[in-house]
Amino acid sequence: IRHLLSGADLDADTATQILDTAAEMATVAGREVKKLPALRGRTVVNLFYEDSTRTRISFEAAAKRLSADVINFSAKGSSVTKGESLKDTALTLQAMGADAVVVRHPASGAPHRLAHWVDGSVVNAGDGTHEHPTQALLDAYTMRSRLGRLAGLSVAVVGDVLHSRVARSNVLLLSTLGAKVTLVGPPTLIPVDIAAALAPGTGVSYDLDSVLPGSDVVMMLRVQRERMNDSYFPSAREYSRRYGLDGPRMRRLPEHAIVMHPGPMNRGMEITPEVADSPRSTIVEQVANGVSVRMAVLYLLLGGNNR
Ligand code: CP
Repeated sequence: IRHLLSGADLDADTATQILDTAAEMATVAGREVKKLPALRGRTVVNLFYEDSTRTRISFEAAAKRLSADVINFSAKGSSVTKGESLKDTALTLQAMGADAVVVRHPASGAPHRLAHWVDGSVVNAGDGTHEHPTQALLDAYTMRSRLGRLAGLSVAVVGDVLHSRVARSNVLLLSTLGAKVTLVGPPTLIPVDIAAALAPGTGVSYDLDSVLPGSDVVMMLRVQRERMNDSYFPSAREYSRRYGLDGPRMRRLPEHAIVMHPGPMNRGMEITPEVADSPRSTIVEQVANGVSVRMAVLYLLLGGNNR
C-alpha cells in the first residue's frame, strides 16, 4: 500500500504483516542500540493541526528509531494562522523533500485530500470524527499480544462512539481480523446505522452490564465534550453511572479480559482510577506498542519493496 488513510485500506494479510513486523520492531526497543538504518535518507513530516501527545510523539520516536529525518510541524505558530491552506502547506513540505506525511486534522477527510496533492505516502494520524487507523493497529497488536489471537475475540467498544475516530477504525480493522465488535453506549452517542454501515456483524447494545460478562476486551472511549452539545450529553453523573467502568463493573468481566483506553482519559468519567491503574488495564502498554506499530507502518510504506 502507498497510503494508510483508513482501517478499510488493510486486508487481513496486510494488517497481519504490519502486526508481525511490529513484533519484530518491538525487539529493537529492548536492545542497547535502539536504531535501525532502514529509513536513512528518508524524511517523515509530522503535520499536526490538532493537539496530540501520544500519536505525535510516537510517530517521531518511530521515525527516529528507523533513522529517518523528522520534521515536526504544528499548525499553531505556523503560517496556517495567516490563512495558508492545507494544500499550500503540504506542497511547501513536499518541496522540502517529505517522503511521508503523517497528518492529524480536525476535518474528516483531510488526509484523503492530502493524498491527492503530495507525491509521498500519507498516514492518517486522526481526522475529525472519522478515522485513526494506526490507533486501531496498536490496539489490535495489544489484544493479540495479551490474549494470543484476534479471530473470535468479543470486543466491547464503550461510550462516545458518535465522535470517535478510534471506534470507527477499530470496528473496520477488528472485523477484518475476525473479532466480533459490540458498540455500547447511550442511544444519542451511537448513531442507529453506524454498526451496519461499518462492518457486517457489528452489534449494538445500550446496556453495558449485560455485555461485560461475555467480553474478552472492553475498550473505553473518551467522552469528547469538545465535539458535542448538551443535547447529546445531559449529565456527567448519569453517564458515569450507566456507562462508566468502575471496580464493581470491571469485576463482571471474565478473569482473562483486558481493559483498554486509547487516551487521553477523563478519569472519573468513563473510567475510574481503580480500573485505569489495575493489572487488567493495558493503557500504558498501548502507548508503548504504538511506537513499534508506527515503526512497522513507516517501514512498510517507505522501506518496503513498493518503492
Ligand atoms: N490516542 C491518541 O490519539 O492520543 P493523542 O491524541 O494524545 O495522540
